[in-house]
Amino acid sequence: MKKIVPFSMLMATLVFGEVVKPVDNTLYLKECGSCHFAFSPGLLPKRFWVKMMAKLDNHFGTDASLDSKDTQTLLSYMVKNSGDKVLITKIHSQRLIIYAE
Ligand code: HEC
Repeated sequence: MKKIVPFSMLMATLVFGEVVKPVDNTLYLKECGSCHFAFSPGLLPKRFWVKMMAKLDNHFGTDASLDSKDTQTLLSYMVKNSGDKVLITKIHSQRLIIYAE
């Protein structure tokens, strides 16, 4: 499948590369990096990850659902490493609100 690297996220990764921790979870890299670049949980705040993981069966028009054990494992990892930098939140909240609604 074609790898998707949204420009906004890529730029954030580059600009905030020094403050956003790289992904270091094998399950996350495998499950969340198969269709696109595995976005670092540090790029987005906790509330977005929680909402996103609750609706994986309708993930930007695709079905990215996992079994409940993996979903829970990944969510814990994402919440633990989520970002709370206001600047990053602002950049990404607009796009992410679209699926969070
Ligand atoms: C079945 C394929 C697939 C899987 C698996 C998948 N995604 Fe996605 N994801 C997509 C598609 C398609 C988009 C929309 C890309 C776009 O609009 O540029 C997307 C978009 C995103 C975005 C928003 C990017 C942006 O530019 O705002 C995030 C964040 C994201 N995915 C995280 C995850 C996480 C975390 C996982 C693992 C739980 C995951 N994805 C698994 C297909 C997938």
